[in-house]
Amino acid sequence: MYLVRWLICLIQLWIQLGAAASVTPIAPLLVKIPNGKLLGRDNGHYYSFESIPYAEPPTGELRFEAPRPYKQQWTDTFNATQEPALCMQWNQFINGDNKLIGVEDCLTVSVYKPKNSSRNTFPVVANIHGGAFMFGGPRQYGHENIMREGNVMLVTIGYRLGPLGFASSGDADLSGNFGLKDQRLALLWIKQNIASFGGEPENILVIGHSAGGASVHLQMLREDFSQVAKAAISFSGNALDPWVVQQGGRGRAFELGRIVGCGQARDSVTLKKCLKSKPASEIVSAVRSFLVFSYVPFTPFGPVVESPDAPEAFITQHPIDIIKSGKFAQVPWAVTYTSEDGGYNAALLLDKQASTGRELIVDLNDRWFDWAPYLFFYRDSMTTIKDIDDYSRKLRQEYLGDRRFSVESYWDVQRMFTDLLFKNSVQTAVDLHRKYGKSPVYAYVYDNPADLGVGQILSRRSDVHFGTVHGDDVFLIFNVPFVQVNRRPDEQIISRNFIKMLEYFALSPNDSMSYGDCVFHNNVGSKQMQLLSITRDGCENKQLDYSIKSSLI
Ligand SMILES: *[C@@H]1O[C@H](CO)[C@@H](O)[C@H](O)[C@H]1NC(C)=O
Ligand SMILES: *[C@@H]1O[C@H](CO)[C@@H](O)[C@H](O)[C@H]1NC(C)=O
Ligand SMILES: *[C@@H]1O[C@H](CO)[C@@H](O)[C@H](O)[C@H]1NC(C)=O
Repeated sequence: MYLVRWLICLIQLWIQLGAAASVTPIAPLLVKIPNGKLLGRDNGHYYSFESIPYAEPPTGELRFEAPRPYKQQWTDTFNATQEPALCMQWNQFINGDNKLIGVEDCLTVSVYKPKNSSRNTFPVVANIHGGAFMFGGPRQYGHENIMREGNVMLVTIGYRLGPLGFASSGDADLSGNFGLKDQRLALLWIKQNIASFGGEPENILVIGHSAGGASVHLQMLREDFSQVAKAAISFSGNALDPWVVQQGGRGRAFELGRIVGCGQARDSVTLKKCLKSKPASEIVSAVRSFLVFSYVPFTPFGPVVESPDAPEAFITQHPIDIIKSGKFAQVPWAVTYTSEDGGYNAALLLDKQASTGRELIVDLNDRWFDWAPYLFFYRDSMTTIKDIDDYSRKLRQEYLGDRRFSVESYWDVQRMFTDLLFKNSVQTAVDLHRKYGKSPVYAYVYDNPADLGVGQILSRRSDVHFGTVHGDDVFLIFNVPFVQVNRRPDEQIISRNFIKMLEYFALSPNDSMSYGDCVFHNNVGSKQMQLLSITRDGCENKQLDYSIKSSLI
């Protein structure tokens, strides 16, 4: 009897071993993680493992809650060949009135692994996508280019956006920052699981562009980020940008309630309960009511300082105070901007309106005091209308003097956007980090206009010179569908240099960072701001005075 059972066992074992042997050819595609086995895809020169859940679907009772780690056990092999879905969003770059796209169940990571017979494991670049905390997705920062270089593994992250990711009543009951909590859980997933794919968990570089860059900085403001990341880069976006951490969230949360039919809610518990019962598409479509004109302000829902009693709070202090306390992750960090970063969102002012036949910038002459507080995000940070108006008047005076808003003065208006939304806060952040932190702080400015970029897209015109706008550098690292053009020879070199920069930073044994032939200078311990200038002709280390910036900030 026992013998028969033994025999059957042996035969089963033999069959299993045989089966295992027969799948050997696809072994790199079959990966085992604690949830079970998943099957990726062979794309010729790289493998992909897409849409792997890292959190339980944030739907039903879990909407407006911190994400729960994904616990399901797969009985069958998980099919990891499906493109990651977009989180539900009201997307600025969809033309027409209906800008709704995406699904609510979207919390996944995707892993892209180059084929390279000369190495078994790879350093890891984890990318947090941009899109103003309101829109975008992993596939809008495509992986093909990085895979072609063949030296790093790329992991992309989907996180909740807009009202579903960031609605906050300012108290413990609807505390907000759900999208940031998603990112954090995804980063932990990468740390725990990436070795199963051939990634090096001790060499994880976390990067992001725009709202993704600000997200990277915010993640870094939690000390435990150093257990996940070896280094970090914030491209054209950091936590001190005025569009990142905003006030007035409570008012917007209840306004959101009124718009979707939760107007009877007087307290946040009732509000959250009611919002959970509404279709996600109604909640996200309500974004249009928060836009004053066009897609302004571009971040009506974004990160907040949470109430100290909020369970699982992400941050309970303003980033400046966190940095001053010195209690943030000590990992080497680079922060960047482009010389005309403010082309986002300035360029939309050059769009000719069908209704009036003129550019929006002309309307600024009459609407400046109404619109400026939304364009530059001080509507909710000042207490009186007089303060707001005084500031608006000063801004206009500083950048335009007595000139009118017109296509001719566009360049100065764009400069205002660059300074206020991107550049000034790079200098402030570098200055604060060098004073209160220990880990290296690097910075670069990129000046080399793309032939097609955000400026042309937003203005829908090609007759204007925008300079080097938001994304002109990062869109050389990733494949970005809406600016997909043939790269010039200089851009091909820069693209390769950038991807090498990522690889070396992820691998660096001594926290150093380099681009091309240039080694970045550390700002910690430096009396002057150390800024690498990257142009078409190469790179050069420059020194600036930390205090040179708009006198108004
Ligand atoms: C996995 O999903 C892809 C895309 O939906 C599909 O084409 C393929 O047949 C699936 N594979 C398996 C083994 O189910
Ligand atoms: C593969 O890895 C080696 C060693 O890191 C590197 O020199 C080479 O450029 C890589 N790329 C490809 C496509 O083989
Ligand atoms: C840091 O490491 C790199 C790569 O190994 C090396 O080239 C460089 O000289 C080192 N720098 C310092 C300051 O030790």
